[in-house]
Amino acid sequence: MLEQLLELQERTLVAVAEARSGEQLERVRVACLGRKGELTQILRGLGALAPEERKRAGELSNQARERLQSAMEERLLVLNRAALAEQIAREQLDVTLPGRARPRGGVHPVARALDEIGAIFQGMGFTTASGPEVESDWYNFEALNLPPNHPAREMQDTFYLPATATGERLLLRTHTSPVQIHVMEQQPPPLRVIAPGRVFRCDSDLTHTPMFHQVEGFMVDERVHFGHLKGVLAAFLRHFFARELPVRFRPSFFPFTEPSAEVDMGCLFCQGEGCRVCKGSGWLEVLGCGMIHPAVLAHVGIDRERYAGFAFGMGVERLAMLKYGIGDLRNFFDNDVRFLRRYGASR
Ligand code: PHE
Repeated sequence: MLEQLLELQERTLVAVAEARSGEQLERVRVACLGRKGELTQILRGLGALAPEERKRAGELSNQARERLQSAMEERLLVLNRAALAEQIAREQLDVTLPGRARPRGGVHPVARALDEIGAIFQGMGFTTASGPEVESDWYNFEALNLPPNHPAREMQDTFYLPATATGERLLLRTHTSPVQIHVMEQQPPPLRVIAPGRVFRCDSDLTHTPMFHQVEGFMVDERVHFGHLKGVLAAFLRHFFARELPVRFRPSFFPFTEPSAEVDMGCLFCQGEGCRVCKGSGWLEVLGCGMIHPAVLAHVGIDRERYAGFAFGMGVERLAMLKYGIGDLRNFFDNDVRFLRRYGASR
Protein backbone atom coordinates (compact mmCIF):
# COMPACT_ATOMS: atom_id res chain seq x y z
CA MET A 1 0.00 0.00 0.00
CA LEU A 2 2.66 2.51 0.99
CA GLU A 3 5.05 1.44 -1.76
CA GLN A 4 2.23 1.69 -4.22
CA LEU A 5 1.57 5.25 -3.07
CA LEU A 6 5.22 6.27 -3.30
CA GLU A 7 5.64 4.67 -6.68
CA LEU A 8 2.54 6.50 -7.99
CA GLN A 9 3.77 9.81 -6.61
CA GLU A 10 7.21 9.49 -8.21
CA ARG A 11 5.81 8.35 -11.52
CA THR A 12 3.27 11.19 -11.62
CA LEU A 13 5.84 13.86 -10.70
CA VAL A 14 7.95 12.75 -13.65
CA ALA A 15 4.94 12.83 -15.96
CA VAL A 16 4.07 16.35 -14.73
CA ALA A 17 7.60 17.58 -15.39
CA GLU A 18 7.52 16.09 -18.87
CA ALA A 19 4.08 17.47 -19.87
CA ARG A 20 4.56 19.73 -22.92
CA SER A 21 1.14 21.38 -22.95
CA GLY A 22 -1.84 22.20 -20.81
CA GLU A 23 -3.78 19.35 -22.40
CA GLN A 24 -1.06 16.81 -21.67
CA LEU A 25 -0.88 18.02 -18.09
CA GLU A 26 -4.64 17.72 -17.75
CA ARG A 27 -4.48 14.10 -18.92
CA VAL A 28 -1.88 13.35 -16.26
CA ARG A 29 -4.06 15.00 -13.64
CA VAL A 30 -7.15 13.01 -14.60
CA ALA A 31 -5.21 9.72 -14.65
CA CYS A 32 -4.06 10.32 -11.09
CA LEU A 33 -6.50 12.62 -9.29
CA GLY A 34 -9.61 12.27 -11.44
CA ARG A 35 -12.76 10.46 -10.31
CA LYS A 36 -11.38 7.15 -11.60
CA GLY A 37 -7.72 8.16 -11.12
CA GLU A 38 -5.11 5.93 -9.44
CA LEU A 39 -4.82 7.98 -6.26
CA THR A 40 -8.57 8.16 -5.94
CA GLN A 41 -8.72 4.38 -6.16
CA ILE A 42 -6.11 4.06 -3.41
CA LEU A 43 -8.06 6.43 -1.18
CA ARG A 44 -11.19 4.38 -1.74
CA GLY A 45 -9.32 1.22 -0.64
CA LEU A 46 -8.43 2.80 2.73
CA GLY A 47 -11.72 1.74 4.27
CA ALA A 48 -10.62 -1.87 4.28
CA LEU A 49 -7.57 -1.18 6.50
CA ALA A 50 -7.32 -1.51 10.28
CA PRO A 51 -8.03 1.81 12.07
CA GLU A 52 -4.39 2.58 13.06
CA GLU A 53 -3.05 1.78 9.62
CA ARG A 54 -5.89 3.63 7.98
CA LYS A 55 -5.02 6.86 9.79
CA ARG A 56 -1.37 6.72 8.74
CA ALA A 57 -2.16 5.75 5.16
CA GLY A 58 -4.78 8.50 4.97
CA GLU A 59 -2.30 11.16 6.04
CA LEU A 60 0.27 9.98 3.52
CA SER A 61 -2.27 9.89 0.71
CA ASN A 62 -3.37 13.42 1.47
CA GLN A 63 0.23 14.62 1.53
CA ALA A 64 0.84 12.92 -1.80
CA ARG A 65 -2.25 14.57 -3.28
CA GLU A 66 -1.24 18.02 -2.10
CA ARG A 67 2.27 17.59 -3.40
CA LEU A 68 1.02 16.45 -6.79
CA GLN A 69 -1.53 19.26 -7.00
CA SER A 70 1.01 21.98 -6.33
CA ALA A 71 3.45 20.41 -8.78
CA MET A 72 0.72 20.50 -11.44
CA GLU A 73 -0.16 24.14 -10.71
CA GLU A 74 3.47 25.17 -11.01
CA ARG A 75 3.89 23.26 -14.24
CA LEU A 76 0.75 24.87 -15.67
CA LEU A 77 2.11 28.34 -14.91
CA VAL A 78 5.36 27.52 -16.69
CA LEU A 79 3.53 26.13 -19.71
CA ASN A 80 1.17 29.14 -19.94
CA ARG A 81 4.00 31.61 -19.72
CA ALA A 82 5.87 29.79 -22.48
CA ALA A 83 2.77 29.71 -24.69
CA LEU A 84 2.24 33.46 -24.25
CA ALA A 85 5.87 34.24 -25.06
CA GLU A 86 5.61 32.10 -28.17
CA GLN A 87 2.41 33.86 -29.28
CA ILE A 88 3.90 37.30 -28.74
CA ALA A 89 6.95 36.35 -30.79
CA ARG A 90 4.73 35.02 -33.58
CA GLU A 91 2.41 38.06 -33.73
CA GLN A 92 5.05 40.71 -33.74
CA LEU A 93 3.92 43.81 -35.67
CA ASP A 94 6.05 45.20 -38.41
CA VAL A 95 5.61 48.89 -37.72
CA THR A 96 7.56 49.79 -40.85
CA LEU A 97 4.74 48.53 -43.14
CA PRO A 98 2.90 51.34 -44.97
CA GLY A 99 -0.40 52.37 -43.28
CA ARG A 100 -3.86 52.13 -44.75
CA ALA A 101 -5.49 55.43 -45.77
CA ARG A 102 -8.46 56.47 -43.62
CA PRO A 103 -11.69 55.87 -45.56
CA ARG A 104 -13.10 59.10 -46.97
CA GLY A 105 -16.83 59.62 -46.63
CA GLY A 106 -19.02 62.50 -47.70
CA VAL A 107 -22.19 64.34 -46.77
CA HIS A 108 -25.03 61.80 -46.90
CA PRO A 109 -27.35 62.43 -49.87
CA VAL A 110 -30.32 62.88 -47.52
CA ALA A 111 -28.45 65.62 -45.63
CA ARG A 112 -27.37 67.09 -48.95
CA ALA A 113 -30.94 67.14 -50.30
CA LEU A 114 -32.24 68.64 -47.03
CA ASP A 115 -29.64 71.41 -47.26
CA GLU A 116 -30.59 72.18 -50.85
CA ILE A 117 -34.34 72.08 -50.20
CA GLY A 118 -33.90 74.34 -47.18
CA ALA A 119 -31.85 76.86 -49.12
CA ILE A 120 -34.42 77.10 -51.93
CA PHE A 121 -37.34 77.74 -49.57
CA GLN A 122 -35.28 80.15 -47.52
CA GLY A 123 -34.83 82.07 -50.73
CA MET A 124 -38.62 82.28 -51.02
CA GLY A 125 -38.98 83.67 -47.50
CA PHE A 126 -39.77 80.46 -45.60
CA THR A 127 -38.46 79.88 -42.08
CA THR A 128 -37.72 76.45 -40.60
CA ALA A 129 -39.60 74.75 -37.77
CA SER A 130 -39.46 71.32 -36.19
CA GLY A 131 -41.65 69.15 -34.00
CA PRO A 132 -41.37 66.00 -31.92
CA GLU A 133 -40.98 62.56 -33.52
CA VAL A 134 -43.09 61.01 -30.78
CA GLU A 135 -46.56 62.49 -31.18
CA SER A 136 -50.01 62.26 -29.70
CA ASP A 137 -52.97 61.07 -31.69
CA TRP A 138 -54.26 64.64 -31.68
CA TYR A 139 -51.33 66.16 -33.55
CA ASN A 140 -50.70 63.31 -35.95
CA PHE A 141 -54.36 62.66 -36.82
CA GLU A 142 -57.27 64.43 -35.14
CA ALA A 143 -56.16 68.02 -35.50
CA LEU A 144 -55.43 67.20 -39.15
CA ASN A 145 -59.07 66.33 -39.69
CA LEU A 146 -58.58 62.59 -39.29
CA PRO A 147 -61.09 61.65 -36.55
CA PRO A 148 -60.88 58.24 -34.83
CA ASN A 149 -61.89 55.42 -37.16
CA HIS A 150 -61.50 57.61 -40.22
CA PRO A 151 -60.65 55.22 -43.08
CA ALA A 152 -57.76 57.39 -44.22
CA ARG A 153 -55.87 56.41 -41.05
CA GLU A 154 -55.41 53.02 -42.61
CA MET A 155 -53.34 54.66 -45.35
CA GLN A 156 -50.51 55.02 -42.89
CA ASP A 157 -49.27 52.06 -40.89
CA THR A 158 -48.59 53.63 -37.54
CA PHE A 159 -46.07 52.56 -34.92
CA TYR A 160 -47.78 52.93 -31.55
CA LEU A 161 -46.03 53.16 -28.18
CA PRO A 162 -47.32 51.26 -25.15
CA ALA A 163 -50.21 53.08 -23.44
CA THR A 164 -49.24 55.57 -20.73
CA ALA A 165 -50.67 55.58 -17.18
CA THR A 166 -53.62 57.66 -18.38
CA GLY A 167 -54.31 55.18 -21.18
CA GLU A 168 -53.05 57.54 -23.89
CA ARG A 169 -51.20 55.87 -26.73
CA LEU A 170 -48.43 57.99 -28.18
CA LEU A 171 -47.10 57.15 -31.64
CA LEU A 172 -44.19 57.80 -33.96
CA ARG A 173 -45.33 60.51 -36.33
CA THR A 174 -46.27 59.11 -39.72
CA HIS A 175 -45.72 62.41 -41.50
CA THR A 176 -44.41 65.92 -40.81
CA SER A 177 -47.90 67.46 -41.08
CA PRO A 178 -48.32 67.61 -37.25
CA VAL A 179 -45.70 70.38 -37.30
CA GLN A 180 -48.29 72.52 -39.13
CA ILE A 181 -50.46 72.25 -36.03
CA HIS A 182 -47.65 73.01 -33.57
CA VAL A 183 -46.60 76.11 -35.50
CA MET A 184 -50.10 77.44 -36.15
CA GLU A 185 -50.96 76.97 -32.44
CA GLN A 186 -47.99 79.08 -31.45
CA GLN A 187 -47.68 81.72 -34.15
CA PRO A 188 -50.32 83.90 -35.79
CA PRO A 189 -50.40 84.36 -39.58
CA PRO A 190 -48.81 85.41 -41.83
CA LEU A 191 -46.79 82.18 -41.88
CA ARG A 192 -44.32 80.75 -44.36
CA VAL A 193 -42.68 77.70 -42.84
CA ILE A 194 -40.94 74.48 -43.82
CA ALA A 195 -40.50 71.56 -41.42
CA PRO A 196 -37.97 68.89 -42.35
CA GLY A 197 -37.71 65.72 -40.29
CA ARG A 198 -37.87 61.99 -39.80
CA VAL A 199 -41.14 60.10 -40.13
CA PHE A 200 -42.02 56.47 -39.39
CA ARG A 201 -44.31 53.92 -40.97
CA CYS A 202 -44.56 50.21 -40.34
CA ASP A 203 -43.65 49.32 -43.87
CA SER A 204 -40.52 47.74 -45.29
CA ASP A 205 -39.79 46.49 -48.79
CA LEU A 206 -37.76 47.44 -51.86
CA THR A 207 -39.24 50.93 -52.03
CA HIS A 208 -40.22 51.57 -48.38
CA THR A 209 -38.17 51.88 -45.22
CA PRO A 210 -39.75 52.13 -41.75
CA MET A 211 -38.04 55.50 -41.25
CA PHE A 212 -37.63 58.13 -43.92
CA HIS A 213 -37.51 61.91 -44.25
CA GLN A 214 -40.09 64.45 -45.30
CA VAL A 215 -40.14 68.17 -45.73
CA GLU A 216 -43.45 69.78 -44.87
CA GLY A 217 -44.17 73.28 -46.09
CA PHE A 218 -47.07 75.64 -45.63
CA MET A 219 -48.11 79.21 -46.01
CA VAL A 220 -51.01 80.97 -44.30
CA ASP A 221 -52.02 84.55 -45.05
CA GLU A 222 -54.90 86.66 -46.30
CA ARG A 223 -55.82 85.89 -49.90
CA VAL A 224 -53.53 82.88 -50.32
CA HIS A 225 -54.85 80.72 -53.14
CA PHE A 226 -54.04 77.64 -55.18
CA GLY A 227 -52.12 79.71 -57.71
CA HIS A 228 -49.55 80.55 -55.04
CA LEU A 229 -49.16 76.87 -54.27
CA LYS A 230 -48.59 76.04 -57.91
CA GLY A 231 -46.09 78.84 -58.34
CA VAL A 232 -44.08 77.97 -55.22
CA LEU A 233 -43.89 74.25 -56.01
CA ALA A 234 -43.06 74.67 -59.68
CA ALA A 235 -40.32 77.14 -58.75
CA PHE A 236 -39.01 74.77 -56.12
CA LEU A 237 -38.86 71.77 -58.47
CA ARG A 238 -37.13 73.75 -61.21
CA HIS A 239 -34.55 75.05 -58.76
CA PHE A 240 -33.99 71.70 -57.10
CA PHE A 241 -33.52 69.80 -60.35
CA ALA A 242 -31.80 72.78 -61.98
CA ARG A 243 -33.74 72.64 -65.24
CA GLU A 244 -36.96 73.72 -66.92
CA LEU A 245 -39.43 70.97 -66.12
CA PRO A 246 -43.07 70.45 -66.98
CA VAL A 247 -45.07 70.28 -63.72
CA ARG A 248 -48.68 69.16 -63.42
CA PHE A 249 -51.20 68.97 -60.59
CA ARG A 250 -53.50 65.94 -60.42
CA PRO A 251 -56.60 65.90 -58.19
CA SER A 252 -56.02 63.75 -55.11
CA PHE A 253 -57.19 63.35 -51.55
CA PHE A 254 -55.75 64.23 -48.15
CA PRO A 255 -58.07 64.76 -45.16
CA PHE A 256 -56.19 67.92 -44.12
CA THR A 257 -56.32 69.71 -47.47
CA GLU A 258 -59.21 70.68 -49.72
CA PRO A 259 -58.79 70.65 -52.63
CA SER A 260 -55.87 68.24 -52.64
CA ALA A 261 -53.44 67.46 -55.42
CA GLU A 262 -50.56 65.23 -56.30
CA VAL A 263 -47.71 66.95 -58.13
CA ASP A 264 -46.00 65.27 -61.05
CA MET A 265 -42.98 66.51 -62.94
CA GLY A 266 -41.74 65.46 -66.33
CA CYS A 267 -39.54 62.38 -66.11
CA LEU A 268 -35.87 63.35 -65.79
CA PHE A 269 -34.66 60.18 -67.41
CA CYS A 270 -36.67 60.03 -70.65
CA GLN A 271 -37.94 63.61 -71.15
CA GLY A 272 -41.51 62.32 -71.20
CA GLU A 273 -40.97 59.50 -73.67
CA GLY A 274 -41.71 56.83 -71.06
CA CYS A 275 -39.06 54.69 -69.37
CA ARG A 276 -38.59 52.27 -66.50
CA VAL A 277 -38.26 54.95 -63.82
CA CYS A 278 -41.57 56.64 -64.74
CA LYS A 279 -43.15 53.28 -65.60
CA GLY A 280 -43.80 54.44 -69.12
CA SER A 281 -45.96 57.43 -68.14
CA GLY A 282 -43.40 60.17 -68.77
CA TRP A 283 -44.26 61.65 -65.35
CA LEU A 284 -42.77 61.29 -61.86
CA GLU A 285 -44.94 61.73 -58.80
CA VAL A 286 -43.02 63.86 -56.30
CA LEU A 287 -45.31 65.71 -53.88
CA GLY A 288 -48.63 65.82 -52.08
CA CYS A 289 -50.29 69.16 -51.47
CA GLY A 290 -53.46 71.19 -51.20
CA MET A 291 -55.24 74.12 -49.59
CA ILE A 292 -55.31 73.72 -45.80
CA HIS A 293 -58.73 72.35 -44.82
CA PRO A 294 -60.93 74.88 -42.95
CA ALA A 295 -61.44 72.32 -40.17
CA VAL A 296 -57.66 72.32 -39.57
CA LEU A 297 -57.57 76.12 -39.34
CA ALA A 298 -60.51 75.96 -36.92
CA HIS A 299 -58.64 73.46 -34.69
CA VAL A 300 -55.81 75.93 -34.18
CA GLY A 301 -58.06 78.95 -33.81
CA ILE A 302 -57.20 80.70 -37.06
CA ASP A 303 -60.02 82.79 -38.50
CA ARG A 304 -60.95 80.86 -41.63
CA GLU A 305 -62.92 83.77 -43.05
CA ARG A 306 -59.88 86.00 -43.01
CA TYR A 307 -57.06 83.54 -43.69
CA ALA A 308 -56.33 80.72 -46.09
CA GLY A 309 -53.31 78.57 -46.54
CA PHE A 310 -51.66 75.90 -48.62
CA ALA A 311 -49.54 72.97 -47.49
CA PHE A 312 -47.36 70.38 -49.13
CA GLY A 313 -45.26 67.41 -48.13
CA MET A 314 -42.41 65.73 -49.96
CA GLY A 315 -40.31 62.61 -49.46
CA VAL A 316 -36.63 63.49 -49.23
CA GLU A 317 -35.19 60.06 -50.10
CA ARG A 318 -37.32 59.97 -53.24
CA LEU A 319 -36.21 63.44 -54.36
CA ALA A 320 -32.57 62.56 -53.61
CA MET A 321 -32.80 59.32 -55.60
CA LEU A 322 -34.18 61.20 -58.59
CA LYS A 323 -31.70 64.06 -58.39
CA TYR A 324 -28.53 62.07 -57.75
CA GLY A 325 -29.52 58.97 -59.75
CA ILE A 326 -29.55 56.56 -56.80
CA GLY A 327 -31.20 53.29 -57.79
CA ASP A 328 -31.85 51.50 -54.52
CA LEU A 329 -33.54 53.05 -51.49
CA ARG A 330 -31.87 50.55 -49.15
CA ASN A 331 -28.46 52.07 -49.94
CA PHE A 332 -29.42 55.09 -47.84
CA PHE A 333 -29.38 53.11 -44.61
CA ASP A 334 -26.67 50.48 -45.28
CA ASN A 335 -23.95 52.70 -43.81
CA ASP A 336 -21.52 51.66 -46.53
CA VAL A 337 -18.77 54.23 -46.94
CA ARG A 338 -18.53 53.42 -50.66
CA PHE A 339 -22.08 54.80 -51.07
CA LEU A 340 -21.05 58.05 -49.37
CA ARG A 341 -17.94 58.30 -51.54
CA ARG A 342 -20.04 57.91 -54.65
CA TYR A 343 -23.12 60.00 -53.82
CA GLY A 344 -22.01 62.12 -50.90
CA ALA A 345 -21.01 65.73 -51.32
CA SER A 346 -17.66 66.92 -50.06
CA ARG A 347 -17.77 69.54 -47.36
N1 PHE B 1 -48.70 64.40 -45.10
C1 PHE B 1 -48.90 63.89 -46.43
C2 PHE B 1 -48.23 62.52 -46.54
O1 PHE B 1 -47.42 62.19 -45.73
C3 PHE B 1 -48.34 64.81 -47.46
C4 PHE B 1 -49.05 66.13 -47.51
C5 PHE B 1 -48.62 67.19 -46.76
C6 PHE B 1 -50.17 66.30 -48.34
C7 PHE B 1 -49.29 68.41 -46.80
C8 PHE B 1 -50.82 67.49 -48.37
C9 PHE B 1 -50.39 68.56 -47.61
O2 PHE B 1 -48.50 61.76 -47.45
